[in-house]
Amino acid sequence: MRDKIIILDFGSQYTQLIARRVRECHVYSEILPGDTPITSINTHQPKGIILSGSPSSVIEHEARQMAPELLSSGIPVLGICYGMQLIAHHMGGLVERAGAREYGRAELRIVTESPLFKGLASPLTVWMSHGDRVATSPPGFLITAVTDSSPVAAFENREKGLYGLQFHPEVAHTYLGREIIRNFLHDICHCGESWTAKSFIAEEVENIRRQVKKAKVICALSGGVDSSVTALLVHKAIGERLVSVFVNNGLLRYREPHRVIEDFRKKLHMNLRYIDASRRFYTRLAGVVDPEEKRRIIGEEFIRVFEEEAARIGGVKFLAQGTLYPDVVESGSSRGSSAIIKTHHNVGGLPSTMKLKLIEPLKELFKDEVRELAREMGLDPYFIRRQPFPGPGLAVRIVGEITPFRVKTLQQADRIIEEIVEEFGWQDRLWQAFPVLLLLHTVGVMGDERTYHNVVALRAVTSQDGMTADWARLPHQMLEAISSRLVNEVEGVNRVVYDISSKPPSTIEWE
Ligand code: XMP
Repeated sequence: MRDKIIILDFGSQYTQLIARRVRECHVYSEILPGDTPITSINTHQPKGIILSGSPSSVIEHEARQMAPELLSSGIPVLGICYGMQLIAHHMGGLVERAGAREYGRAELRIVTESPLFKGLASPLTVWMSHGDRVATSPPGFLITAVTDSSPVAAFENREKGLYGLQFHPEVAHTYLGREIIRNFLHDICHCGESWTAKSFIAEEVENIRRQVKKAKVICALSGGVDSSVTALLVHKAIGERLVSVFVNNGLLRYREPHRVIEDFRKKLHMNLRYIDASRRFYTRLAGVVDPEEKRRIIGEEFIRVFEEEAARIGGVKFLAQGTLYPDVVESGSSRGSSAIIKTHHNVGGLPSTMKLKLIEPLKELFKDEVRELAREMGLDPYFIRRQPFPGPGLAVRIVGEITPFRVKTLQQADRIIEEIVEEFGWQDRLWQAFPVLLLLHTVGVMGDERTYHNVVALRAVTSQDGMTADWARLPHQMLEAISSRLVNEVEGVNRVVYDISSKPPSTIEWE
């Protein structure tokens, strides 16, 4: 059996980041709800347990609980923030409200040698985000690190295998956080490195085979790396019994259908069906300006087209989707209780009448992990390197009504931006770069003529995973080239503006 770590989730926004750090150390992990009974945890035979942070407070009545027997089970436990406070609370320490919420960078001084900090030089820059803190560590525990405002920033009881950190080792702002997690996994839990892209693929292929048996699977292929990797995995598992359907909703990038058909049908020999449903989408979107309404219609129409196709194929029992972890969080359907930010149509949008079961092999992964899988599976680099493209397509980049003409305008602008990004060698430095067509006309002058044409906003961002993003500091020459080509080559555009907002508080897409 492969070494496994159980992460108990108490509702922290960083729980999936912990899982991801564990995967980066090539160790397999699973996330379970914080209050999972000890008997269920034991069936996993974990080599170690990590307790996540939480928005709640152990001092309050509605504190999220865990099975306290866990702390005497002999399995090593690492408590992070709230997780540490839970350990303190149960083991006889004292947790109190910190005078002020400690938030942001802090300097951590290691005061006692600890296996968690092996190989790390004190002081360390760490990231704090807490309202409570451990005031007195439990009997038998050693304080291993402090900060100016946390007298117990890390503690441990080596004999019992219990370790606590007040800061968040999983976030990138804790510079050597990965090393701390690595020390826990390798030196304290003695986990082997059995978790790799290769093993993930082998395992998922096996899972899919087991789940699907002799049935047929349908997959919505969009040409994006997520759905491509999903299709490749299912194809590897069941071959021809996977029918990939590529729907042209009329909101795709320039020449996209052509590229997808070439690659997946001709090079990868997949069973691919192409449906041009542009007209249907345009008809339903006519006159609609509300962003959520657009998303709803596109999601709904997409599923209709799909249902019809599934019925035509016959005998389909499963639907494979390339849902990623950030899609799950942002649509508010994760285990925690994050607010819905935008409705991502590829999550949970299946009507109950469509009796297909879901296969979502990438549901726990982040984009760059999927790219790694794509490389491992030999997908053409063009599809791996390309930017993420939202399910509702160009619709979320057209403010106001969607018409075939406005789509065409945006496609032209998008193609030009893509070309310039390539030309300047910025494709690998950007998460996304695209135009947004505004519902705004401004006065311009071309030749001797007064014009009253569209404004295009350029959105170019850097990001690790799409959850947060910063606007890209593009060279002025590149901005100049984009502006000049857009105004000169795209009919009906006479002004270009640059979006300099980060996420949060803005989102990457405009709608
Ligand atoms: P936002 O605009 O939410 O975008 O900051 C974050 C990332 O997600 C992509 N995105 C979507 N992807 N379906 C998708 O599959 C959607 O409905 C959707 N909306 C946004 C967006 O392009 C960015 O990379």
